[in-house]
Amino acid sequence: MQTGLRGKRVLLTGGSGLIGGAMLPRLLNSDLEVLYSLGRSKHGANARERLRARAGDVVDEFGSRLRIIEGDLQEPGWNLSPADRRKIVEETDIVVHCGASTYFQREVECRRTNEEAVQTLIEMCVESPTKKKLCYLGSAACGGLQRDRVVQEDDYPRPDDNHFVYYTRSKSNAETMLRASRDHYDLVIVRPSYVFPERTAPTKFMNDSLWPLVSMLEVEAIPVRSEARVDFVLVDAVCDYIMRLISGPHSHETYHVSTGEIASYMWRNILIRTAEATGRSKLPDFLTSDEYAARKRSLSEEHRLRVGRLGVYIPFMNQNIVFDNRRVIQDCGPSDSLFDFLDDYLMDVMHQVAPR
Ligand SMILES: NC(=O)c1ccc[n+]([C@@H]2O[C@H](COP(=O)([O-])OP(=O)(O)OC[C@H]3O[C@@H](n4cnc5c(N)ncnc54)[C@H](OP(=O)(O)O)[C@@H]3O)[C@@H](O)[C@H]2O)c1
Repeated sequence: MQTGLRGKRVLLTGGSGLIGGAMLPRLLNSDLEVLYSLGRSKHGANARERLRARAGDVVDEFGSRLRIIEGDLQEPGWNLSPADRRKIVEETDIVVHCGASTYFQREVECRRTNEEAVQTLIEMCVESPTKKKLCYLGSAACGGLQRDRVVQEDDYPRPDDNHFVYYTRSKSNAETMLRASRDHYDLVIVRPSYVFPERTAPTKFMNDSLWPLVSMLEVEAIPVRSEARVDFVLVDAVCDYIMRLISGPHSHETYHVSTGEIASYMWRNILIRTAEATGRSKLPDFLTSDEYAARKRSLSEEHRLRVGRLGVYIPFMNQNIVFDNRRVIQDCGPSDSLFDFLDDYLMDVMHQVAPR
């Protein structure tokens, strides 16, 4: 397929993950010359097998254009062999960096994977004989603690931002590092909001992303504002925009990929749709944190445990922020996957998802 990547040599990190794994078929189906995919062996499966488990047959269909590089982002220099490092430095034109630790509270892992690994990437780009295009997957949540507003791309990051968890701080720090050396590469930062997997994603990805919705229906009460808005986006939209941004020129450095003000959802509506999709009839009581504290003692141990598992997400749920997306739509056009997907989507996928 013609995409503007003709003859290009692309490095993708994070191909076994949610977003990188959805990028893989798009890149392999394009007219690029070579795709280097950096990943690691895990649980007895090598990097290629893990790509296959995420993205399916496409990994073998386009085998000759796909070159696997074994590496570990948590290790100094990504643990690359000198030959693989040379390939990345000298033989790639575009980097799509989806590799990251997405564990909210693993501070050491986030520091290594999301900050030190980005420093290594910067060094390789600086050494490159040609100016690379560097597409970094940021996070719309990297502005940290904010409330009741529509957030613009240029509002953050700021060094004095407060954060609920280290993960978002590490994403903010990485952006700052990338900007400091921006003259050495053509930087484009794609900041998704909260990403839902494609309909055909393996069940593991459905479960990992969507279990909080089902768990919220398993409890009597939650300390979440029913009218708080949340900004979910389908991975298809994220990947469509990454493809457009790496294939052609871009007039901004940073883009939200989000449903924005018009198409975002209130928690109550999301749970009504999830209940319909999973055949449940009852919503939880939406309480303030004081009301929940007063009610907590009367809840069963099981209910308290379930709400406890949701705990790290609850401050995010109550933020009531959405991320303006006019910039990406203006520059790259609309994406069919951006709007009006939630009702059908939840109906199609929720049967696979179990509460935790
Ligand atoms: N999903 C969202 O809702 C969302 C929202 C906003 C921004 N983002 C950003 O988008 C990017 C991709 O997120 P995602 O949702 O695709 O995350 P994900 O599903 O957790 O995937 C992360 C990827 O990074 C790889 N990785 C992690 N540690 C590694 C290491 N030490 N060495 C090599 N590879 C490593 C993982 O490989 P293994 O399989 O080997 O662990 C996996 O392929 C991240 O930068 C994230 O911050 C995601």
